Amino acid sequence: MKILMAASEAVPFAKTGGLADAVSALSIALAKLGHEVRIVMPRYYGIDRGKLTLLEGPMGVNLGGGEAWCAVYTGMLPGAPEQNPVPVYFIDHEGFFGREGIYGSPWEPDFLDNPQRFTFFCRAVFQVCRKIAWYPQVLHAHDWPGALAPVFLKFAERSGGFAKTLSVLTIHNLGYQGIYSKDNFYLTNLGWNVFYEGGFEDWNMMNLLKAGIRSADKLNTVSPTYARETQTQAQGFRLDGILRERAADYGGILNGIDTAVWNPQADPFLPAPYGPADMAGKAKAKEALQREFGLPPDSQVPVIGMVTRLTEQKGVGELFGPAYGSAWSICRDMKLQLVLLGTGDAWCENEVRSLASRLSNFKARIGYSEQFSHLIEGGSDFFLMPSRYEPCGLNQLYSLAYGTLPIVRNTGGLSDTVENFNQELGAGTGFMFDDLTPQAIYNTVGWAVWAYYNRRKQIEAMRLTGMKQNFSWEKSAKKYQELYEAGLENLTG
Ligand code: ADP
Ligand code: GLC
Repeated sequence: MKILMAASEAVPFAKTGGLADAVSALSIALAKLGHEVRIVMPRYYGIDRGKLTLLEGPMGVNLGGGEAWCAVYTGMLPGAPEQNPVPVYFIDHEGFFGREGIYGSPWEPDFLDNPQRFTFFCRAVFQVCRKIAWYPQVLHAHDWPGALAPVFLKFAERSGGFAKTLSVLTIHNLGYQGIYSKDNFYLTNLGWNVFYEGGFEDWNMMNLLKAGIRSADKLNTVSPTYARETQTQAQGFRLDGILRERAADYGGILNGIDTAVWNPQADPFLPAPYGPADMAGKAKAKEALQREFGLPPDSQVPVIGMVTRLTEQKGVGELFGPAYGSAWSICRDMKLQLVLLGTGDAWCENEVRSLASRLSNFKARIGYSEQFSHLIEGGSDFFLMPSRYEPCGLNQLYSLAYGTLPIVRNTGGLSDTVENFNQELGAGTGFMFDDLTPQAIYNTVGWAVWAYYNRRKQIEAMRLTGMKQNFSWEKSAKKYQELYEAGLENLTG
């Protein structure tokens, strides 16, 4: 199958979160299954043109208010099979993408011209195909920045090379929808009837993700539980109704782990390799982590790690909220060490810094670091992820693979990938709680720490069970393949 991914992020070129990992890893896994996969994404300022090849000639993109002209660069996705590479096409437009930041900057968290930027991007996807005379059978768009691609396919482009193209939209996070003033709708150059029929209309605003949900031939999100949760009022972010309408075409497919990057037996960021058969390297990673973060090296004390965006989604209010969060009492009352790596909301970054300055057993780095994220996954005993909601979550998967037991809220992809500790049987792969309250986080961390000191054998057994789980992208890619096949069959009847 010829598959084109339309995405705003893909590692190693641009990343703010798990979306970037998922797009590249899925593309590689599909290529390994023999499919012809290509990716289209914007060329952000940070992506070095010097390492890319310029396709000859400018490219015009149909945008309300006039054609927008851009260039297209191409490069290869690292990690794809040699005999079946994955080309990446970068849309280069100085006005839209020639600046620091993917969706925004610290001063302008959501760029004012995002409706222009991503309407332009989604329309450019079709022009790229014409330019290279390559037409996909599957156009696979991701999240709100890619959501207009299925809309354009349905209402403007389904003819010629795209006559039989299937559109798929993957929702990685329903919390971000791309809602803007409807004054921007003219940019699409679509008739006003499409504003309603196409699902753009949202309380007199324009909702890009909603339009994609209405228009894509097939929809999915990144775990079965999140697919169910998003169809309820509680977790549907106001789109539960339209998702229920599309229930027949909507399901969940779990993300996987890119084992070329996340494998404790071959991780350049760890002091020594380790695996289920020989865990000695994990103790070395723990010591290295403690030293790196300025904690007293002590093999006996449990280390709890976190790598996270510091935003409401991740439960940071319940953990770090001033006078409310439980991180302070956790560190004060329990014999443990807490280590955090993350960036995000300013209030939370400040609170984390302030707590770390007052607690001797809490160390934090505010920043983004590939190296430290690996060291935390490898060197910690437990990994804390008290998410308010979690479409899939990758960090708990990395934790499981690294023999680090996740402490998670029972929600979304966390429910589908972690099994709660059973004290009687010694079974399970982590520690779970249902209610998102500071007290529940406190109690569950306490439970894990208790087990660490009192049920060491069970803890060791759980580590091994976790490490033997199979969260491969190959498994997920086969499910996407089935989704594509089912969709194409519907389309051609
Ligand atoms: P989300 O995409 O919602 O942030 P995921 O768990 O799916 O959550 O993916 C997060 C990804 O981003 C992981 O690969 C994680 O290691 C990475 N990550 C998040 N914050 C940082 C950071 N400060 N430094 C390094 N990696 C980070
Ligand atoms: C989003 C979600 C996360 C998921 C990732 C990749 O960022 O928040 O749960 O793992 O996308 O699909």
